[in-house]
Amino acid sequence: MSARLPAPHPAQAAAPRALGELALQQRAEFARRFAPGGAPRLFFAPGRVNLMGAHLDYNGGPVMPTAIDRGTILAVRARADRRIEFSSTLDPQSFGFELERVPDARSGAWSDYPLGVLRQMLELAELRGGTARLSGLEILFGGNLPVGAGLSSSASICVGTAFALDRLWELGSERLELVQAALRAERGFVGVQCGIMDPFAVGLARPGHLLWLDCRDVTWRHLPLAHERYAIAVADTLVRRELAQGAFNQRVAECRAAFEALRPFQPAARCLRDIRLEVLEAQRSRLEPAAARRAEHVVHEVARTFVARDALLGDDAQGLGREMTRAHASLRELFDVSVPELDVLVDTAVETPGVLGARLTGAGFGGCAVILLRRGAEADLAPRLDRAFSARFGYAPRVELFAGDPGPRELE
Ligand code: GLA
Repeated sequence: MSARLPAPHPAQAAAPRALGELALQQRAEFARRFAPGGAPRLFFAPGRVNLMGAHLDYNGGPVMPTAIDRGTILAVRARADRRIEFSSTLDPQSFGFELERVPDARSGAWSDYPLGVLRQMLELAELRGGTARLSGLEILFGGNLPVGAGLSSSASICVGTAFALDRLWELGSERLELVQAALRAERGFVGVQCGIMDPFAVGLARPGHLLWLDCRDVTWRHLPLAHERYAIAVADTLVRRELAQGAFNQRVAECRAAFEALRPFQPAARCLRDIRLEVLEAQRSRLEPAAARRAEHVVHEVARTFVARDALLGDDAQGLGREMTRAHASLRELFDVSVPELDVLVDTAVETPGVLGARLTGAGFGGCAVILLRRGAEADLAPRLDRAFSARFGYAPRVELFAGDPGPRELE
């Protein structure tokens, strides 16, 4: 079931971590692919890790993600005509069409993501003076965010595309409108039943902060995390599971089934996040065993996420870390989305001095663990993870430190 890919995509493996260097490469590649002319403008959108609130967004719960400074880079140039050209450093397939004939069906290719966003931005443009004045564009997509690793490469490309189109076409959209355009593109055009967390985490990122997002009320605030004292590490198992999307959709369906069965016993509840533990316990026998375990995770994870928020607000990073590690146990035992590779990373991380907590991030089924640690503990962490992981699985995980990111922006 698990496809192990110890080598990331060659273009990503070669992609530099430093944004300045990534930008230079992207510019050079743009010049190779497109006709001579003016220099392209460069845009960047980050990826994200989620520290608390696992599998809560589609249940209306609170989540606590933060952006990371790996992401999507776009080199974009306006054309004199009305043609759109999409090209990517990560995929050999290119796409071109006229603005008068924008494809209206998805093709299954990578271009579905930016195409879905383009269609959304055309709708926005329609409301703001019409689309007749819009120029064609040449866009080269690239980046240094691993795909399928649970770091939200899809929200990164969608929000990045929305941001870049907004700037090139001077639509003057608010950040929230871009986030919503990205979300509608992914749900409506690409057809992924994702929650709202990822585009919000990418689009509303603020450096030195976690985002507190209430996915039922769609309200948010930024919570400071003192990066001079604490670091966030991401350890990638390099496990990519082909059936992950199906397994994710199944979790969504089980949660929905649990809510539908419990709702009559708590009529004011709007989503599974609202269901009280007593209600779940009293009505448990009405649920399929799997749905009951999913609901149990959700109810407790909601409570843990509030505890984690209050700990962070009280400058108690240890408290936040403790809830992260508890969340992982629940994801493993009740939500069934962990894999042995993630468990080894989390178990080894939390035994490392200075580590405050660890859990899987994203949907699970492989991908990455996120680790909260005190500054000073970084040097020990990677070698320890390396040793324990390699002894068991025969290859090393990829471990990196992050200190947040300011969100979508134009690069100089
Ligand atoms: C995936 C989805 C998110 C969220 C997480 C689990 O990453 O894209 O919307 O549901 O899983 O927390």
